[in-house]
Amino acid sequence: MLECLSFADVHVHFREPGFTAKETILTGTRAAARGGYTIVCPMPNLSPVPDSPETLALEQAAIDRDAVVRVLPYCSITMGRKGLELVDFAALKGRCVAFSDDGSGVQKEGVMLAAMQAAAREDVIIAAHCEDDSLPGTDPRSEWGQIERDLRLCEQTGCHYHVCHISTKESVHLIREAKARGVNVTCETAPHYLTLCDRDVLDDGRFRMNPPLRTAADREALIEGLKDGTIDVIATDHAPHTAEEKSRGFAGSAMGIVGLETAFPVLYTRLVRGGRISLERLVDAMTSAPRRIFRLPDTPQDKVLIDLDTPFTIDSATFASKGHSTPFDHWPVYGRIVKTILNGTVIYE
Ligand code: DOR
Ligand code: ZN
Ligand code: ZN
Repeated sequence: MLECLSFADVHVHFREPGFTAKETILTGTRAAARGGYTIVCPMPNLSPVPDSPETLALEQAAIDRDAVVRVLPYCSITMGRKGLELVDFAALKGRCVAFSDDGSGVQKEGVMLAAMQAAAREDVIIAAHCEDDSLPGTDPRSEWGQIERDLRLCEQTGCHYHVCHISTKESVHLIREAKARGVNVTCETAPHYLTLCDRDVLDDGRFRMNPPLRTAADREALIEGLKDGTIDVIATDHAPHTAEEKSRGFAGSAMGIVGLETAFPVLYTRLVRGGRISLERLVDAMTSAPRRIFRLPDTPQDKVLIDLDTPFTIDSATFASKGHSTPFDHWPVYGRIVKTILNGTVIYE
């Protein structure tokens, strides 16, 4: 049995307000508790987009009403996530954990430069989904080309730039070099990029997400990046959709898979028991690193108890999330979450 600080996920999608057939604050936070998480940060691709104190207040009201774990929402970088006009960073600072247009990349360099200048001035984090819309998303350059651009802007402005869900070997390389130069950059990857590759893809919506699964060489570079600290954080990009939206085969299904209820067992089984990284490194990337980097509330009374020794099989039918689409269904794993404790109170057992 392992007892440690609870997990914190700086990248989830809870779909409320706007898309509550996919997930709600209640079901998303129940899934978090079931996965050993007590802090989660939902992305702003919602309706309305939290891009002002007024629209953010609608999401915050649902959080205040229904959340069973700590929820610290993102605000968007641009109004309506349209990539054109910046939000009022000063007005939103302190009400959200960071700023992201997740779901889309910020296409215009001038807009990203202005966003980073504002973020540096206000001392807030820009968390970037990197995807160049002029290239196919399957082209790895769509991701790393935008990271390369942003690292240059980050160096110019000095803001804290966090790269979401990196998936390519070039992204790892660029961020490693930038960190060595002292650039103020951090990054995350997700469990599926560390454990799967394009050869695993079946014609099934369970394998459809953005960025897509890349090559085995990319997966290996990500594991190396996690090992040497280039990758700071593991975040799930928990992205639930309805069963119908995920039932249209690989090409036709909505992009996104659920991740909160499988992250630790999958990573512990594949990476730690598989001899690739230490348990300490995995736990740091899921507990202390996200708290430190995103200045999340220090919550020593938030704990998770994990059974490391009893094998079990992942069964998506048992998920608390409304989303059940995962490439890890039926995987034999170790690392069942036995208990999740929030501020001294058991919230999942
Ligand atoms: O797979 C994804 N799902 N990638 C994204 O960028 C958005 C997310 C979602 O909101 O479903
Ligand atoms: Zn994204
Ligand atoms: Zn996302």
